[in-house]
Amino acid sequence: MSATIIDGKAFAEKVRTQVAAHVTRLKDEHGITPGLAVVLVGEDPASEVYVRNKGKQTLEAGMNSFEHKLPAETSEADLLALIDQLNTDPAVHGILVQLPLPAHLNSDLVINSIDPAKDVDGFHISNVGLLGTGQKSMVPCTPLGCLMMLREQLGSLSGLNAVVVGRSNIVGKPMAQLLLGDSCTVTIAHSRTRDLAEVCRRADILVAAVGRPEMIPGDWVKPGATVIDVGINRIPAPEKGEGKMRLVGDVAFASAAEVAGAITPVPGGVGPMTIACLLANTVTACCRANG
Ligand code: GUN
Repeated sequence: MSATIIDGKAFAEKVRTQVAAHVTRLKDEHGITPGLAVVLVGEDPASEVYVRNKGKQTLEAGMNSFEHKLPAETSEADLLALIDQLNTDPAVHGILVQLPLPAHLNSDLVINSIDPAKDVDGFHISNVGLLGTGQKSMVPCTPLGCLMMLREQLGSLSGLNAVVVGRSNIVGKPMAQLLLGDSCTVTIAHSRTRDLAEVCRRADILVAAVGRPEMIPGDWVKPGATVIDVGINRIPAPEKGEGKMRLVGDVAFASAAEVAGAITPVPGGVGPMTIACLLANTVTACCRANG
């Protein structure tokens, strides 16, 4: 293996320490405690784990955490009423509605009912538009974490060929906007892209966000490229015992690490940075709300 392993866990710890120091200053100098409200509808086990981790890390950073767990059959009107209440609550600086929502709820409508200034996910259509036009916005946490790791690893990204595999609203599209903002030449590739292997081989920066276990092999990676693996996929691991599972990314790590200049591992790469950026966004929202 020749690639540098980008330690997202350590980097996230550094970001969380900076966030905690900022929170202490806000409390001591201004008497303000940033607050994050997380709304979970239903009992999706993966979402429950994410929400628990978000709440725990919010408290560890010295902020207030407000958790709202609603039954799966919650009506749209009731959910919108809760968001309305959080929008006007001065103790709440950030609001996150965990996705996916149950099928009977209109996610776009729900997300767009959040006050854009409290939209720490950066999913509100106003924030999407602001990001797309290079204006001050709330930036989605996962792509923000990826950008921070890329800047740390490479310094300036200007002029580099960046390929983002995946076109989701949560990761692929905002990631492409951020890379464009840092003056990369950006390609968004997806399931219909012709000769995906050849497109990937042109990438100085390769961001994989497709949600398909190990679909990008090492021979799709340009020698020396920086590879950011956003995928978190659970696959059977019979070698660990019957019924056991393990986590893998969208990139075949062992073969890619032979070729890449630097690569994020799964777990321990992008994942920890996402929550760290959520905490940072909440402090940003709090500072903007208080001038
Ligand atoms: N579900 C998976 N990732 C995310 C995220 O970043 N934010 C929200 N709200 N839901 C998610």
